[in-house]
Amino acid sequence: MTNRGLNGNQTVQTLRWLDGHLEMIDQRVLPARFEYLRYGSAAEVAHGIRVMVVRGAPAIGCAAAYGVALESLALREATPEAFVAGMERGFEVLAASRPTAVNLFWALQRMRRVWQANQQRTVAEIVDCLIAQAHEIAAEDVRINRALSAYGAVLLADGARVLTHCNAGALATAGHGTALGVIRSAVEAGKRISVIADETRPFLQGARLTAWEMVQEKIPVTLITDGMAGHLMSRGEIDAVVVGTDRVAANGDVANKIGTYMVAVLAQRHGIPFYVACPLSTIDLTIPDGAAIPIEERAAQEVTGFGNCQWAAPGVQVRNPAFDVTPAELVTALITEKGVVTRPTRERIASLFGT
Ligand code: MRU
Repeated sequence: MTNRGLNGNQTVQTLRWLDGHLEMIDQRVLPARFEYLRYGSAAEVAHGIRVMVVRGAPAIGCAAAYGVALESLALREATPEAFVAGMERGFEVLAASRPTAVNLFWALQRMRRVWQANQQRTVAEIVDCLIAQAHEIAAEDVRINRALSAYGAVLLADGARVLTHCNAGALATAGHGTALGVIRSAVEAGKRISVIADETRPFLQGARLTAWEMVQEKIPVTLITDGMAGHLMSRGEIDAVVVGTDRVAANGDVANKIGTYMVAVLAQRHGIPFYVACPLSTIDLTIPDGAAIPIEERAAQEVTGFGNCQWAAPGVQVRNPAFDVTPAELVTALITEKGVVTRPTRERIASLFGT
């Protein structure tokens, strides 16, 4: 049995490749249960993304890459024509799984390029190339998170009390995390950092996932409900905000978990730096500004209750946008693997890509 650890020696392995299958931690049931679910096709992985077994922009991208690899593996004995038809169906179902995190489409594009570049090879050889590329995307994600986290750690003072919203940790990536990566790296550098975790209604990524990751590593963490952030800021109890992102527009507008915009406005009001940890794969230069970022609307049941427990008055109308957009003017800096972009503008973002 081969256990291809995706993250080397790190503790939380959000995704792992085992015996020609993808296994992903079921993030719907954490922290009550820690269990992996097994995936063997693009359609299965797409379902896992849609129902949020796996979530967080970089992790979704990695899962999609593995979805393509799995589909190719399942088609290994197919004729070249059947292989092409099956692969196109796989790409389609994965692209339709969730709309906001651009890493999904970025990863699919990268897998497609590898497929195209190797089209003259046998199906078996193409399969090997696609599996290798999925492994590389996951391994690269950890390297990128480490690099951006090293830049971000410098921004946090010893003793800083850092508020984060949602979960941009190891669970949201192939390892280390982006926003929580910055915090981890600051702690590794010897700084005493404490975390204030917004609960993050309605899916509770903060209460269930961020709190769990921090408790595992003994990084001091305090849970608050989303509505408490302003109160703590007004009392001088928060020194910095660090969040992740699902898509950054070319002008620096940032889409992230619903509630992030509210935190950014409050941070500005109280003169608290608002940092966004952001791998370049999350920047979408084809989107001019935040208004053009597709915002996912999810099921009403996520707002009227959680899991099997429903508490809202039956019959009530519900809105459930899963993300919001924070205008670039509220962003103190983007923390990327190529360095820190203070007060992001179209020009500063373009220069990250050498354009
Ligand atoms: O709906 P989710 O849980 O996929 O949303 C996740 C977030 O909003 C994260 O902050 C973002 O993807 C960055 S993860 C490094």
